[in-house]
Amino acid sequence: AIRTVHTVAALREQVRQWRAAGERVALVPTMGALHAGHVALMDAAREKADRVVVSIFVNPTQFAPTEDLSRYPRTLEADLGKAESASVELAFVPDVAQMYPEGFCTTISLAGPALGLETDFRPTHFAGVATIVTKLLMQALPDVALFGEKDYQQLQVIARMARDLDLPVDVVGFPTVREADGLALSSRNVFLSAADRAAAPALHRALTAAALRIGREATTTDAMVEARAAIIAAGFELDYAEARHAETLAPIASSMEGPVRLLVAARIGVTRLIDNVPVEQG
Ligand code: PAJ
Repeated sequence: AIRTVHTVAALREQVRQWRAAGERVALVPTMGALHAGHVALMDAAREKADRVVVSIFVNPTQFAPTEDLSRYPRTLEADLGKAESASVELAFVPDVAQMYPEGFCTTISLAGPALGLETDFRPTHFAGVATIVTKLLMQALPDVALFGEKDYQQLQVIARMARDLDLPVDVVGFPTVREADGLALSSRNVFLSAADRAAAPALHRALTAAALRIGREATTTDAMVEARAAIIAAGFELDYAEARHAETLAPIASSMEGPVRLLVAARIGVTRLIDNVPVEQG
């Protein structure tokens, strides 16, 4: 059965015992509202370690005041059931006071892969993510931590930060889990109206078409112009649709310059969706 702990001290003590027994520990950080994408991440963690810890914490510092913190879905009972079914041993469920005690004032300053894309629209987002992820990694001290490619810029920011700060953890990415029609699973999909849900797969379709075209032509500009038009034609308001270097996330004009990743953020109804795909090297 899954064990739930609410304090850093209890988390540390459990992980310390496992590691003293020579067991490998994996951490899967989440904000709850767990879906099949999160469960696939837990299954992948199980393959990489003897013990799997999931953290469930809706991190206020990664939401801007105008964003959806208060209506972020909270489904703790169901989340614990899903984690238990995925044979997760430990759920770490801290409250805000545990993670941000009175007087908390330290954040992590980022550049590189954090520049542009999401940061143009959510300027404080990755500082909040980086701070909470560093805290979770230092609290749990797992051997490995898993993150979804669904949040591709987040994954690159965390991987770079772990290298730069010598965090003693392997940061591992995991491919995006999708609905049959291509829509990436997301806790925010519950906010899509029926009409918006029907339009939503256009995002992945446009990226996939652009990736194929860049695979053929190498240059990125024309393919991304076409992708932006298709996304807007499907009824989205586009924040960005960009071709970037797959690791540094620097702008990239051609697949001759390095591995290419296509990233998009767009709004439909009250919902903001993000997605990304690789350009397969020819
Ligand atoms: P959250 O959105 O709950 O996502 C938790 C993890 O699940 C992230 O690594 C995310 O990339 C992954 N994930 C989400 N949807 C996925 C999908 N369709 N396929 C595969 N993986 C998917 O991302 C966060 O929480 C937070 O920013 C966090 C890292 C926990 C810090 O607060």
